[in-house]
Amino acid sequence: MYLPHNIAELVGGLSFDENTVGMSDSRVFTFPDMVLKVEKHSSESEQVHKMMKWLQGKLPIPRILGTASENGTDYLLMSKAEGQMSCAEEYMLRPQLLTDIMAEALRLLWSVDISDCPCSNSAQRRLQLAEYRMENGLVDTEECDPDTFGKNGFRDPRQLLEWLKENIPEEESVLSHGDLCLPNVFVKDGKLSCFIDLGRCGVGDKWNDIAILCRSLGSNFRGEYGGKVYNGYSEDMLFERLGIAPDRKKMEFFRLLDELF
Ligand SMILES: Nc1ncnc2c1ncn2[C@@H]1O[C@H](COP(=O)(O)OP(=O)(O)O)[C@@H](O)[C@H]1O
Ligand SMILES: [Mg+2]
Repeated sequence: MYLPHNIAELVGGLSFDENTVGMSDSRVFTFPDMVLKVEKHSSESEQVHKMMKWLQGKLPIPRILGTASENGTDYLLMSKAEGQMSCAEEYMLRPQLLTDIMAEALRLLWSVDISDCPCSNSAQRRLQLAEYRMENGLVDTEECDPDTFGKNGFRDPRQLLEWLKENIPEEESVLSHGDLCLPNVFVKDGKLSCFIDLGRCGVGDKWNDIAILCRSLGSNFRGEYGGKVYNGYSEDMLFERLGIAPDRKKMEFFRLLDELF
């Protein structure tokens, strides 16, 4: 594999594995104590550098060890998160603990002072990116919820985009992770140890992360990824722990917005 000089100097000769967990087009290589993410240059790969710099010392995230950009490809070498992904079996078997950890993840994000945050994850900005994706044939409806398009849903991504533009909820601004699913949160010894995959992190609506998290918890417990079904989880557990009532309308807006990514 070709690597830019400064990255090769840091990882050359070390053993590595390729990680295939992520659903994006990026490639992730894990070294004994480092991780290299290689992806096509995009607004997300730009945002990730800015946000990882800004978040150092504010939230538990990987340290940046080296970056490079060559021929339209971005390379990010970072420290390896300690512990395991929160969807590890150990935590799927303990729904109350896992829900508590994820409620803590939300609270940690919401506790960050966003007054000088350099990036936005607002619905408006996401819709601009969605429009670009649609016009460039990047929206993949195959992985969408079966009810999003077709008989019970929208005619096509264009109609969904138009609906979203007309129904943007009033923003309850917080630091939004942007893709708060279980594989993007690491846990060690029963405690949150690291947030990863920060390309969509920025100031946004708190319900964006809640919506993505609820979908992720639900689909992991229903066994939609690993095939195994785990009992003992209900969405109420998360809202009880957060001490708020679900805003179904906003959650549906952000679930639908995510279908265009
Ligand atoms: N810094 C890291 N430490 C440990 N594992 C990581 C790290 N970065 C990525 N990974 C692993 O690679 C997977 C995919 O990386 P991620 O950045 O989430 O890519 P994607 O955008 O494809 O979801 C993660 O779910 C995790 O298992
Ligand atoms: Mg990820």
